This record gives sequence, structure tokens and C-alpha cells, in this order.
Amino acid sequence: MDRSFSLFQGHLDFAHLLWHHLLCPSDWAIDATCGNGRDTLKLAALVGETGGVISIDIQEVAIHKTKELLQEKSPHKPPQIHFFCQSHASFPPLCYEKKIRLIVYNLGYLPGGDKSLTTMRTTTLASLEAAMALVAPGGVISVMCYPGHLEGAQEEKALLQWSGSLPREHWSCSFHSWRNRESSPSLLLFQKTII
Ligand SMILES: C[S@@+](CC[C@H](N)C(=O)[O-])C[C@H]1O[C@@H](n2cnc3c(N)ncnc32)[C@H](O)[C@@H]1O
Repeated sequence: MDRSFSLFQGHLDFAHLLWHHLLCPSDWAIDATCGNGRDTLKLAALVGETGGVISIDIQEVAIHKTKELLQEKSPHKPPQIHFFCQSHASFPPLCYEKKIRLIVYNLGYLPGGDKSLTTMRTTTLASLEAAMALVAPGGVISVMCYPGHLEGAQEEKALLQWSGSLPREHWSCSFHSWRNRESSPSLLLFQKTII
């Protein structure tokens, strides 16, 4: 058990613990909303020098911040990290050349950035459909939702509605939300069945 893990501090600790259990050195992962780079940094540490991370964001400033964070904080030689400044509505061709073990979304807007450039439910749903085809059997899609703002609340609601009807023989889907913290971030997880 990671001793720095604090269940009641936040949803990120919880998600990172699960990623830690899922990823091994040499794996490939996608950060579909790289933002300030904290999630890419975590994924890079987990896949190690022989693995790879594909980091996507619609904003050039987010790509820049992520590169800066990696340069500053990554104590080891970074794994192969590939950046794409584009919407995650579709994935770059490189994603289809790799066996993708984990795809993570941290929805919403860039902290400290332009709040109007937030993820939107229609694009997020399109992206999740593409992610489901892309992720390897046994692999996981991890989605952090932020219902504390209007689009975030509508986005969480749409994702919950959509995910409730996924065929259980192909997908395990769970939802984690804090019971005594109103409108706090939540975590949706999807694991593709190994057939
Ligand atoms: C909450 S931030 C991500 C935080 C980040 N994962 C981190 O660890 O710092 C959400 C990000 O999603 C990005 N975003 C919004 N819509 C997007 C889209 N359609 N495709 C890709 N990125 C998008 C925003 O630009 C923003 O940087």
C-alpha cells in the first residue's frame, strides 16, 4: 500500500492508486486532457523508461505546461511522451499502433486558465466511444468528473446515463462519489472484459 495514499483527501489520490495497480513498466497510456501535466507526470512515472504516454489537450498552453512540469519534476529519463494539441473527439493514429492499457480523462477546464474552454458532454461522449474501441482487453478508462460547475454537472449526468446501459459482458463500470461533499469531483471507471 502506498503510504501517501489518503482516501479522504480527494478523488485524485483514489484514481492514482488504481492506476498504480493497473500499470506496469513498458505499458502505454493516454492522457486525454493533459492540462497542467500532473496526470501525465504520474503516468510517466508508472510506465517507466520503456513505456509510453500519449498526452492530448486542445490548448497549446496546456501542452506547454505539461512539458515544463515533466522537465522540472521527472527525476528519471522520461519515457516516450508524445504530445498532440487537438481535441480528444478522435485519437491520433499513433494511439492505434500501441497496446493501450489505460486512458485517463480529467474533465473540466484548465485550472487558472480560460473556463470557457471546458470539456463538453457531446465531445466527451464521442471520445469515450473511440476510447472504448481503442483500449486493450483488461485495460481501463478512468474519468474524473467535476459537477461543481454547470457544464460539469450536465456532463457527469450524461456520462452516468450513457454508462448505465453498457453491456456488462463487455464492460465493468463503476462510479465513485463522495457522499458528504456536495458537488465534489467524482470518478467513473470502465474496464474492458478479457474475452
Ligand atoms: C481539468 S484540466 C486537466 C488537468 C490535468 N489532467 C492535470 O493533471 O493537470 C481539463 C483540460 O481539458 C482540456 N480540454 C477541454 N476540452 C478538450 C477536448 N475536447 N480535447 C482535449 N482536451 C480538452 C482543457 O484544455 C484542460 O486543459
